[in-house]
Amino acid sequence: MSTIDPRPSVGITSIGLSLPSLALPLSELAKLRGEDPGKYLYGLGCCEMALCAGDEGVVELATTAAERALARWSGDLQDIGLIAVGTESALDMSRPLSAWVADRLGLRGAVRSYEVKHACYGGTLALKQAAEWQLAGASGGKAALVIAADVALYAPLDPGEPTQGAGAVAMIIEGSLTQRPAVATIDPTSHAWSEPAFDFWRPVGEEFPRVDGPFSLDCYKRGAEHCLTQWIGERTAVDALAELEALCFHVPFPKMVKKAVLHCAEAFGLEESEASDLFSQKVDPTMDWNRHCGNAYTASLWIAVASALAGMTEGCRIAAFSYGSGFGAELLTLTAGSQAAEGPWVDDIETDFARRQTIDAANYELLRGLQMAQTA
Ligand code: CAA
Repeated sequence: MSTIDPRPSVGITSIGLSLPSLALPLSELAKLRGEDPGKYLYGLGCCEMALCAGDEGVVELATTAAERALARWSGDLQDIGLIAVGTESALDMSRPLSAWVADRLGLRGAVRSYEVKHACYGGTLALKQAAEWQLAGASGGKAALVIAADVALYAPLDPGEPTQGAGAVAMIIEGSLTQRPAVATIDPTSHAWSEPAFDFWRPVGEEFPRVDGPFSLDCYKRGAEHCLTQWIGERTAVDALAELEALCFHVPFPKMVKKAVLHCAEAFGLEESEASDLFSQKVDPTMDWNRHCGNAYTASLWIAVASALAGMTEGCRIAAFSYGSGFGAELLTLTAGSQAAEGPWVDDIETDFARRQTIDAANYELLRGLQMAQTA
């Protein structure tokens, strides 16, 4: 007797992105810090960092991304039954960031509203919870609004300073027994790995994170290898990877991703040329937007996923590796939906890139001075 899978097809039915209004070319930061620009441009793989102006912050980024996702969605606010914000730029130890965003959106009533924290992994966890809420049949036919939003700043002169950035990605998550999600279906099975570690953390009351750079790279590589190994299972790595049109990563900075890819390729026994092709064909192109906005923590992976999905033929598959210091990691797989080929969310990025103001080293110093004075 054949069985029918009663589970809905769950996934992303709309995406909105938002970047702040200022950009600093890394060549300007290099000038300020007395570094060769090649270190930032080629050594780290970063071109520009996105920075918030004095009147912008994580709430504005998250709200704009959500408004854009809602504007290109067929439903309206009354159809949202859950709002979850993944962030490590929380404004309060108790009040969730989702309350600020819901307030701006005018979202209230029969809605579950909360914040998720696990360093850069928080947005993915919020998305997984929303997808599982749909799969469990607990949504009552409503949609979830998931937002990954962060402003990533290090102390001036910190070695992490060239990897700063900011941005937000909002995604509407729905389930249906009859239709595939328009943007991407999220496979219910994913592959997680966690190990308690102090690789990057921000003690309560401290404004900037502390990071053990080399250790965080080790943890990130280990997380990627374990998650990919589970996903590959009994197959060969070559066969499994051939299934994918793109392999997206959390992007602290593009060189870190390259190191993890080469590490995994070696662990899986790929030839050097296979490893290099894997990176250049399936990973590097997904980081085009990241290179121009820097590390947006929880949003970084989803910026890469949004970039990879845009222009993709329906039915193509991608994998998304999420990493959060502390540390937790998870590999998700997704299938492009009918709207991916058109990729309307590209407008958000093109709009924000076109209208943002490029600042120089002197204005960056002024901005950091002002921002530090405001938060002191
Ligand atoms: N031209 C080209 N390349 C050059 C160069 C030049 N003139 N000068 C230096 N380089 C290269 C170096 O060779 C090096 O490349 P390799 O790593 O391939 O050898 C690269 O530039 C960087 O140089 P250094 O290692 O000397 O740089 P540094 O000591 O100043 O470290 C850093 C910079 C790598 C960014 C380090 O600060 C770091 O690791 N930072 C944090 C990493 C991080 O973001 N961790 C968290 C990850 S997860 C996350 O996002 C957090 C979360 O969950 C919230």
